[in-house]
Formats: sequence, structure tokens, C-alpha cells
Amino acid sequence: MPEVIIVEDADQAGQLVARRIADAIAARPNFVLGVATGSTPLTTYQALAEIATREQLPLDRVQAFALDEYVGLPEDHSESYAKVVDREVAERLGLAPGNVHVPSGTAADAEAGTAYEAAIREAGGIDLQLLGIGSSGHIGFNEPGSPFDSRTRVVELIDQTRHDNARFFPSVDDVPTHAITQGIGTILEARQLVLLAFGERKAAAVAAALQGPVTEAMPASVLHRHPSALVVIDRAAASKLED
Ligand code: PGA
Repeated sequence: MPEVIIVEDADQAGQLVARRIADAIAARPNFVLGVATGSTPLTTYQALAEIATREQLPLDRVQAFALDEYVGLPEDHSESYAKVVDREVAERLGLAPGNVHVPSGTAADAEAGTAYEAAIREAGGIDLQLLGIGSSGHIGFNEPGSPFDSRTRVVELIDQTRHDNARFFPSVDDVPTHAITQGIGTILEARQLVLLAFGERKAAAVAAALQGPVTEAMPASVLHRHPSALVVIDRAAASKLED
């Protein structure tokens, strides 16, 4: 069972997770952080940037690897995950551009997946992977039914996910239909997993992932198979958990 911490709100979660990441970076300046996009991890990045400034964390050797990227958006599109990671993570933390990696959504084919996996290996593997959870239970863009041994590859997004992400685009029709994502097998190789979830909208997926069967039909349930998984959720996201 993953460790579960229930917090008051996203800010408290951000402080808690950022503290752990900062301590790990202080102990290991070439720390490799797996970053997630979406709304959920933003308070963690904000809190980490504040700690980094206050404590003069050595960030020049820290590398970041994104979980996923849309396929088919122009590279300079403001909602491409390359741009989001630049804006929310790299610029905030002052990471060197060469230390920030996002899978290619323009050359997204089998080779892009293989190249991304090679880059992760070359960095020494991911020390801590931040994860959100989709209302579908996805981690990265691994939708229900994704094999637990899947690797970085191009996937089709389900309608539920495209609707969930429509708030970042003019309309749901503008949300890409495909993405390239680290596979579940790739994610499981990170030394630590930290899944964050906030709000009622995530409660059913959180309960199914933590208290339902471990099954490819509920991608986040795979956290049970990881030796060091932490789940940090607010009360609303925890509201469907049974005692
Ligand atoms: P969100 O996305 O943080 O924007 O809710 C989470 C996810 O889809 O994994």
C-alpha cells in the first residue's frame, strides 16, 4: 500500500512535497526530477522555487524529465508541455535548458519513445516522479487498459481526458487526439513516486486506485506495485476512501 497523507489543501501539499524534493536535491545535486503538467503540481513547483531561493539550493545539475507531451501541436504552442514545463518548472527554478527534457510531440514515432527512454537512462534514471491522476485514473497519458509494462509511446487520448483538458484550449476540438507518454513500465522505474490529487473530481479515481483491485483498467492502481510510493491528497480527493 502506498503511504497516504491527507492535507488541508493544495498549498499544504505543495509545501510538503517541495520540502522532500529540496532535501533530496541538497543531498544529491544531480537529482533527476520527473515532472507532471496540469494544474495539480503547480503549488509544488511554486513552493520548491521559494525554498530554492531561500536556501540557495544548488540546482545547476538538477535534471527534469516530463511525463508526456501532446502530439501535433506546433512546438511554440503555449499549451505544448514543452512550453508548460519551461514556464512552470524550468524558468521558476532557473534550470539550465539542456537539463530539461520533454518527449518530442512533433517527431512522435517509435524512435521518439526510444530516444526519450535512452535520455532517462543516461541521466541515471528518475529519482522522484511527480504524478497527477486523471479522472479516468490515468497516470501520464496512460489511459485505462494501458499495459503495466508499457514504455514511452504514442497513445490516443480518450474523450474524458480531452474534455478534462479542454479548459486549456479554445474548445475541446482543439485538444490534440494523441500524445506521447512515458509508459507505466517507465514510470515504475523511478526510485520514488509521488502522486498528488485535489478536489472532489478526483475522489472516485483515488478510491479505486488505492482501495480497488490492482488492474490495468485503473492505471494508478499500479502504485501498489512500487516499493516507494507516496500519495498526497486533500480531503475532497480523499472523500470516497473507506476507513
Ligand atoms: P490536472 O491533471 O492536474 O490538470 O487535474 C491531472 C492528470 O490528468 O494527470
